[in-house]
Amino acid sequence: MFEKRKVRAHTNIALIKYWGKADEEYIIPLNSSLSLTLNDLYAETSVLFDPALDQDTFYLDGEKQNGSSLKKVQHVLDLVRQQADIEVKARVDSQNFVPTAAGLASSASGMAALAASASLAAGLDLDKKDLSRLARRGSGSASRSIYGGLVQWQKGSNDADSYAIPIDPADWGLGMYFILINKEQKKVSSRSGMKQTVETSPYIEEWARTTDEDVEKMKEAIAQRDFTQMGLLMERSASKMHATTLGAIEPFTYLLPESLHAIQFVQALRQKGFDCYFTMDAGPNVKVLIKEEQKAAIGQLLQEEFGPDKILYSDVGPDIQDITNEL
Ligand code: PMV
Repeated sequence: MFEKRKVRAHTNIALIKYWGKADEEYIIPLNSSLSLTLNDLYAETSVLFDPALDQDTFYLDGEKQNGSSLKKVQHVLDLVRQQADIEVKARVDSQNFVPTAAGLASSASGMAALAASASLAAGLDLDKKDLSRLARRGSGSASRSIYGGLVQWQKGSNDADSYAIPIDPADWGLGMYFILINKEQKKVSSRSGMKQTVETSPYIEEWARTTDEDVEKMKEAIAQRDFTQMGLLMERSASKMHATTLGAIEPFTYLLPESLHAIQFVQALRQKGFDCYFTMDAGPNVKVLIKEEQKAAIGQLLQEEFGPDKILYSDVGPDIQDITNEL
């Protein structure tokens, strides 16, 4: 009576960051954000609601999960069960397609794939807007992984109006390099880092106010395909986000010395005439936005500086996909 369903969702990297919640339970953000979905980093998740199960089980890359990892999955399953009006337990199998040792396991692709596969498996036929709202409850950034290309998460003010919308397919030659600084699990999760910043950093209000303006400026730059302006706005957003954590009590930072080195290297490349810009999330890795026509030249310089095994590349990724036929 229940069918097993499988979905692929691609991760996304924010050009204008989401940082801080207005509502923790519903994950309503303090500010709107805007991201690029990536092709080479994704998750595939299958879900089966099975009346024979007496508890939910969650396998990640073949390993059975417990504790907080299982709890996060159950939270989304519970929301799906509520909407479908069922009580059946589920088995969830998820695989992360992120090159090994990258330290980039992403909640965005994982939670988006889970929201979509679980809702299909429960017999719900959600449209993309409602999928984005559901994914948001698993992890804020997951709301954006429903769509490919450039995507805006409109902050809204409640569960009904806080969701992502596609802005531009970005099929005009954008790409992103990853400089892998450190593959260890981050010490401060985005969840607790945001909370600490919102509760204690004096910079948070200006962050939220100016970031909503930055989203509008970014949309203008995208509409004009003004890559330089997009890159500069992206760097400022990342720098501003990381500045808020230094104002928190206690102050903390996601930057390692090697992150700073990578940032300076990217900026030095610009002095040499390359059009490339950095961003960073709640961890030490540095991401570099480029145009595909400079992919080879920039890639070579990054590999020489950081080592070939520390450099990853992805071009622009698509919408979430139902891949039940691949089961
Ligand atoms: O939704 P989360 O908990 O994965 O938070 C994402 C926060 C950042 O990656 C730092 C910024 C963003 O907009 O993705």
